[in-house]
Amino acid sequence: MAYLFRALVVYLVLLVFLFISSSTTTTAAGARELRINVKVTKSFVYEVCSQTRNINFCVDVLRSDPRTETSDLFGLGSIANNLAIINATDTQNYITDLFNNATLDQKDHFHMCSLDYQFIISDFKQAADKMRHSDYKETNTLAIDAINRASDCENVFLSPPVIQSPLTQRNKNLGDLADILAAVSKRLS
Ligand SMILES: *[C@@H]1O[C@H](CO)[C@@H](O)[C@H](O)[C@H]1NC(C)=O
Ligand SMILES: *[C@@H]1O[C@H](CO)[C@@H](O)[C@H](O)[C@H]1NC(C)=O
Repeated sequence: MAYLFRALVVYLVLLVFLFISSSTTTTAAGARELRINVKVTKSFVYEVCSQTRNINFCVDVLRSDPRTETSDLFGLGSIANNLAIINATDTQNYITDLFNNATLDQKDHFHMCSLDYQFIISDFKQAADKMRHSDYKETNTLAIDAINRASDCENVFLSPPVIQSPLTQRNKNLGDLADILAAVSKRLS
């Protein structure tokens, strides 16, 4: 009787031990898998960003977007394009304010920038459509056009009447965003 009882206890202890060890093994494997995925995504973002003109900006922008964690290359391009549309639209509105506040002789500058940003927004909207149709070559052309137009807007302030550009940071920002799209679409094409 005592022997049977002891055998039962040993059996139960063994069972509990097996259960615990098997469940910790599963958890450990799950955690490792999760960590590997995160690691891959992070180095992937860095690898993509290393082909852009502003690596730190690119890494910051993409890593601070929650969608990045589950994105592939196409997804990163869509995120950049999406942020670029939002940013360019915001700047377009800001330019309208600047235009309304400007002296008569400076209004031309803001009018030119407003036109540039109209094209920029149109470029990004077309780029979204081209991405959907896997036309990455055309996406790349549109992204580069946006970069050039942001720099056109910046250069407007170098013609008379020469004033300090109030759009330097925004133009640079927009160009950096468009450059992410350019780098991604180049890789995809
Ligand atoms: C969008 O533009 C604003 C205003 O210039 C800027 O502060 C912000 O960082 C930009 N966002 C991105 C993602 O580039
Ligand atoms: C335009 O002028 C108004 C009134 O002075 C001011 O509140 C606003 O901040 C100005 N906007 C810009 C973009 O300078």
